[in-house]
Amino acid sequence: MMSDKQATAMMKKSTKEHLLIACGFVACVATTAFTAGAAAQTAAAGNTNELRPLYADAGDVAEGKRLATSACASCHGAEGISTSPDVPNLAGQRAVYLYTELRAYQSGVRSDSAMHNAVKFLNDDALVKVAAYFASLEPAQPKPGSGAATKPDALQAGKDAAAACTGCHGEAGVTKTPGMPSLVGLDPKYFTDAINDYKNGKRKNELMKSMAAAISDANAKNIALYFALQKAEAAKTPAPGDAAAGKAAAASCGGCHGENGVSASPTTPSLAGQDAEYLTAALRAYKDGTRDNETMKGLASALDEKTIKNLAAYYAGQKPQAPNVRKPFTTQEWVERCERCHGLNGNSTNPRFPALAGQRADYLVKVLNGYRSGARKSSEMAAMAGGLSENDIDNLAAYFSSQKARSVMYIVLPGK
Ligand code: HEC
Ligand code: HEC
Ligand code: HEC
Ligand code: HEC
Repeated sequence: MMSDKQATAMMKKSTKEHLLIACGFVACVATTAFTAGAAAQTAAAGNTNELRPLYADAGDVAEGKRLATSACASCHGAEGISTSPDVPNLAGQRAVYLYTELRAYQSGVRSDSAMHNAVKFLNDDALVKVAAYFASLEPAQPKPGSGAATKPDALQAGKDAAAACTGCHGEAGVTKTPGMPSLVGLDPKYFTDAINDYKNGKRKNELMKSMAAAISDANAKNIALYFALQKAEAAKTPAPGDAAAGKAAAASCGGCHGENGVSASPTTPSLAGQDAEYLTAALRAYKDGTRDNETMKGLASALDEKTIKNLAAYYAGQKPQAPNVRKPFTTQEWVERCERCHGLNGNSTNPRFPALAGQRADYLVKVLNGYRSGARKSSEMAAMAGGLSENDIDNLAAYFSSQKARSVMYIVLPGK
């Protein structure tokens, strides 16, 4: 099997902006990809035939061109450069990748009805030749000025939007105003549920209803993430009441709200370090039913005013903790991960991995969403795409589509 290391280690850049990949691996034949004389044959050493397009000769490429002109150009453009939304450029794409995808459309492993129809009657030789043809073309280059407009990543978007909240909820989510809850230490799930409950009226509060109405679902997630990643400090507000008596009364609460008020459940709020006046108001609201929650209503109705104050004083005095949320990657950090397989700036040097440089941004957005939803299957890409936000996908598509594209030729070193 080809090793990526071997391939990239021997990579050279020619004057023509091609990447010359020397094949130091058994599967390559002693020829450049497109010179005459290399028989399209199955390699020795127990390889599958997926590398066949690398052995295609000039005659194969010419036949591939005839097929492409009649069967593919209407959608993919005359020279493999698409002018249709969501239809990928094929020019200069890596040959083994193209061939593998054509087989995937044929077998239905990759589902797309336009592509299934385009390839269903083609034999394997035809797929090899048309793949070799498209791989031999000059790739599309980005239009000058494209890819400039990038969206803030999730954390930055959250920070920007949170500017509207800190007047009441305190700088970085630590409240200084009695009655206003801190927003640090809350799990993003509880946080976004709360925003939804204000929106749909399940949780009644006029101030928060109007605030929540202005927040999109995607932005609620970003804001929740921003506050979850802030340093969890206790509210800077007074906490009157008998904390020691509160601790004794809290024995029945720890099962759900966690030892010392730090919850381990994403749907049960942490109480540690929360503003005492807010905790008091919340317990009263559960008790009289203005805050609708069966579990908390049952528990709170057993509490008298004094116990409520003591519980609030106890929890307000506990040390809050940031929820267990990892800081997401920035676009640049994602790009570095993508480059491990897709090559520097998306110029893949492994004929199995698709190049991304110069690809249409709308197509990249579409397929990344496909990997994320599972509509397009790939174990490598599912692992990657699962962690991408909508903004990440837009940014990565803008980034890779605006990179200078380089075609590759696979050659073999003398003596191999
Ligand atoms: C009717 C329009 C249409 C025709 C004709 C067509 N394609 Fe496509 N092709 C598409 C669309 C749309 C996609 C993207 C589908 C998807 O998202 O999986 C695609 C995707 C592909 C891909 C995957 C590219 C990648 O980067 O993963 C390959 C390879 C491909 N086409 C090759 C061909 C070849 C070869 C032919 C001619 C034999 C052909 N197509 C004919 C519309 C077409
Ligand atoms: C004008 C003051 C004000 C502003 C501005 C404000 N809030 Fe609030 N927020 C409140 C009050 C008061 C409550 C408590 C309401 C209640 O009792 O349910 C609250 C409660 C919340 C809660 C529930 C906390 C918990 O522990 O259940 C969340 C989440 C929240 N706000 C998020 C936000 C976000 C996000 C913004 C900015 C987009 C924001 N708030 C802006 C006053 C405000
Ligand atoms: C069976 C689990 C359970 C137990 C036991 C429990 N709670 Fe809760 N508590 C919850 C859940 C779930 C919520 C969130 C309800 C909602 O969305 O309004 C909540 C919400 C709260 C809130 C509102 C916090 C906020 O940020 O808005 C307070 C205050 C509270 N509980 C105090 C207590 C106290 C004090 C006790 C013990 C007397 C207690 N809870 C026992 C499950 C529990
Ligand atoms: C571990 C290796 C690996 C990493 C890391 C990786 N990819 Fe991929 N990627 C692949 C493979 C393999 C495929 C082909 C999968 C298939 O057949 O669907 C692919 C396919 C794709 C495609 C489809 C290309 C096309 O023409 O249809 C896109 C877009 C893509 N990757 C983007 C990314 C981005 C963005 C990142 C970084 C966030 C990334 N990849 C990271 C291995 C990887």
